[in-house]
Amino acid sequence: MSVIRIGLAGFGTVGSSVYHNLLKEAELIFQRSGVRLIVTAIARRNPRRLRPGLPRSLLVPKVEDLVSSNKTDIIVEAMGGCGMARDLVLSALKAGKPVVTANKALLAEHGKEIFREVARHRTPIYFEASVAGGIPIIRSLKEGLLANRFHLIYGIVNGTCNYILTKMSKEKIPFEVALKQAQELGYAEADPSFDIDGVDAAHKATVLASLAYGGCVDFKKVYVEGIRHVSTIDVQFAHQLGYEIKLLAIIRSSLPSIEVRVHPTLIPKTNRLAYINGVTNAIMVRGHIAGDIEFSGPGAGGNATASSMISDIAQAAVQFTHAKARHFSSDGCGLPTMTLSSNDPKVMNIKNVVSRYYLRLTVTDKPGVMAQVSSILAKARIGISSVIQPEGHEGKSVPLIFMIHDARNDAMEQAISKIQRLNCIKAKPVMFRVENFES
Ligand code: HSE
Repeated sequence: MSVIRIGLAGFGTVGSSVYHNLLKEAELIFQRSGVRLIVTAIARRNPRRLRPGLPRSLLVPKVEDLVSSNKTDIIVEAMGGCGMARDLVLSALKAGKPVVTANKALLAEHGKEIFREVARHRTPIYFEASVAGGIPIIRSLKEGLLANRFHLIYGIVNGTCNYILTKMSKEKIPFEVALKQAQELGYAEADPSFDIDGVDAAHKATVLASLAYGGCVDFKKVYVEGIRHVSTIDVQFAHQLGYEIKLLAIIRSSLPSIEVRVHPTLIPKTNRLAYINGVTNAIMVRGHIAGDIEFSGPGAGGNATASSMISDIAQAAVQFTHAKARHFSSDGCGLPTMTLSSNDPKVMNIKNVVSRYYLRLTVTDKPGVMAQVSSILAKARIGISSVIQPEGHEGKSVPLIFMIHDARNDAMEQAISKIQRLNCIKAKPVMFRVENFES
């Protein structure tokens, strides 16, 4: 019988859930994998915090001790962040100890360095839990959809933002109130910036794009726009037009480059993602052989994340036992994706991206306003697909909403800056992209 010994870094929500579920489901995991998984050492980022259920006998003083210990075979990184976690992962790989992590920030921002070490030391890293928590999207892309080219991948990959936007949509409450509720329920951090500014979703998009197209996508080139500026009024106008506003990660093949972007997006109510509510995540993958495949489920939380991490630990353990001769493939799951490549995919600059738009202007209610705005759009060769001036907004300033046909982002930005300078415009124009999910 093979016994694999685990060094666990981090005993917060995720780390403790990995530990307890490994104990609770030990028999099931053994039956299915043929390997006994035993946590033999635990280190924490903050040693002063004593979480209930922490097995003190397993504590080691420092995170580095997990790697140097002769009682660990595999390192599980559940600390988060890019400081200590990066050092731990790099030193584990160097020491030939396979790594399991949920750390999308680390993979997105230091992927090149990490995968260089993976290749150099022929020691794998597993990261199923890094995108969409409990949804097995990584293995599906790498194995289940192996024969496919991916024209389009899009998804709701941040539960915090989806919770906030769902509340704004269903209860017509402002962003700040919805954010406060999310914080009270533990769905948003005290400092929610990473989530609401789109950074977390952009990390996940970077990981997905790297897997889908090979090489390491440069996170710094990914366009990111968060949801702070989404207002209830736009959510309600979007409704009237047949859309929901969601924070969407979009990865699209647009040869010779790829689009990788995260921003609030109007999604037609004919698309199932419009009905993904609360903290749930959903990802749609368009494979050229398989067609459209949808995944949805819990994207965060201790148990959902632990479910994916335990699957990785079992996989790492099975490979470890079969490959004492160190015949690991380059990244651990058998497929040579996300390795160092001279052909890292090139991310298209947002200014070249073509999409449809929702544009809300606040204008003086006088004859000729529409003509002035449409003249600027016409000169920029930007087509209007519909215009509404909703009733019930009488006063000095009224909303005027344009739905715009496909246009390049830079052309749209230039037109908006000209529109903004018109005397009839009384507030900063609001623009959101609209997706119809064509390849
Ligand atoms: N904070 C993330 C979310 C989960 O709200 O989806 C961890 O990536």
